Amino acid sequence: SIGPISSLVISNQALAPDGFSRSAVVAQGSFPGPLMKAAKGDTFRVNVVNKLTDDTMLRGTSVHWHGILQQNSNWADGVSGVTQCPIAPGNSFVYQFTPPNQAGTFWYHSHFGTQYCDGLRGPLVIYDPHDPQKYLYDVDDETTIITLADWYHKPSPAITGIPSNDATLINGIGRYPGGPKVNLAVVNVVHGKRYRFRLISMSCDPNYMFSIDGHQLTIIEADGENVQPVTVDQIQIFTAQRYSFVLNANQQIGNYWVRALPNTGTNITTSFDGGINSAILRYKGAPNIEPKLIPVPRNLKLLDETDLHPLTNPAAPGKPFAGGADVNINLDLGFNATALEFTVNGTAYEPPSVPVLLQILSGAQDARDLLPRGAVFTLPRNKVIEVTIPGGVIGGPHPFHLHGNTFSVIRSAGIDSPANYRSPVRRDVVNIGDAGSEVTIRFRTDNPGPWMFHCHIDFHLQAGLAIIFVADDVKQIKQAISPPDSWKHLCPIYDALPPSA
Ligand code: C2O
Repeated sequence: SIGPISSLVISNQALAPDGFSRSAVVAQGSFPGPLMKAAKGDTFRVNVVNKLTDDTMLRGTSVHWHGILQQNSNWADGVSGVTQCPIAPGNSFVYQFTPPNQAGTFWYHSHFGTQYCDGLRGPLVIYDPHDPQKYLYDVDDETTIITLADWYHKPSPAITGIPSNDATLINGIGRYPGGPKVNLAVVNVVHGKRYRFRLISMSCDPNYMFSIDGHQLTIIEADGENVQPVTVDQIQIFTAQRYSFVLNANQQIGNYWVRALPNTGTNITTSFDGGINSAILRYKGAPNIEPKLIPVPRNLKLLDETDLHPLTNPAAPGKPFAGGADVNINLDLGFNATALEFTVNGTAYEPPSVPVLLQILSGAQDARDLLPRGAVFTLPRNKVIEVTIPGGVIGGPHPFHLHGNTFSVIRSAGIDSPANYRSPVRRDVVNIGDAGSEVTIRFRTDNPGPWMFHCHIDFHLQAGLAIIFVADDVKQIKQAISPPDSWKHLCPIYDALPPSA
């Protein structure tokens, strides 16, 4: 069966989610975009219709389904310059994909320039009626979604220098310093019930310290992967990460602050400040008022990533020791202060005009032919790849995301953090930490196609902090990936390319 939304119309609309009106990029007329939901095993068939008209922002578009593995459907991954040409204004394109074994919390966003910062972002949830984990939490309701987003008063192409967000939006609503007291988002609960809340960071830049006053959070999922339950008071959630946690509505009937404190922006508040970076958890029967202005409680127990362990098949691929992968890749991140570009192993990524997948399908014989040179890494088939990334490059901590695969986090951020091969968390976005940190991940190349690996701070991706892993050889990709003709015609250049060899 197909999820309820089969069309996403992308258009420009004036929005004032924090009381300040600006032109934005919206999906189906709303920000965040509508929830796309499906049951495990469903096929998604989504017609993305580009009705963008505002020249102060990008007018092409493409939509990435963040965390969906796109097994043998790399062409539907939605990355402009890697897996497709952007959809031109006035055109449309149907994405079709079936995530066979995936369930959990995902999202979708534009993957063209910094367009998602202008609004094109929304939640995507795959429900699992036979969730093997249900016995662990036994919740009464699993429909609550909490999205966190940074918001800017300027269109993203007009942002110069270091971007500084104006407001934190929780479920699409927020306040900014000096702005009007707009009504905050309300998350409703009934006393005595247990809930699965899904927390999604749709941030373009900041990470958030997330907590709900008076309530503990029992984490059961990270980035679409079930984890053994871990109970904390606070989560530092990085750009594009997701968590499910169980919340027990067992406190006194009343109103409680939901807080998401960003690490960057004009809205950083050290003391608690009248509903900025906040929403309200409201019990049924509580008055329709805001909670008292009290500071963030002290001594909150913060989630430590190394306490997260997969619920099933916990071991990392490869052998359980250093050097136990088939291929080891060390990345060296840099910043070129003259060009204002980030580099990976000396190269700043710039999207090629012919998408990498089209280069492959239309005849490139070898990775050395693929553009952009230096940013494309070809990986052998069905091997274990280990990637080590140092923290510390300017503008961090940087959250790195791999398309097409989840990975095991052998070493999490932190000075001298220990290696874990037996039960490391699996996820698709990892914080690489600050100077002195060295994060190591592993994954197996069992999904053919070019997959981007990049910093998910969108302004950093725009400034070159990305590479492409191509798994695996050209012949195998040609056998596995067959995009529809509509895909080829997204690229005006298509008919001019030499015929496939
Ligand atoms: Cu959430 Cu490259 O994407």
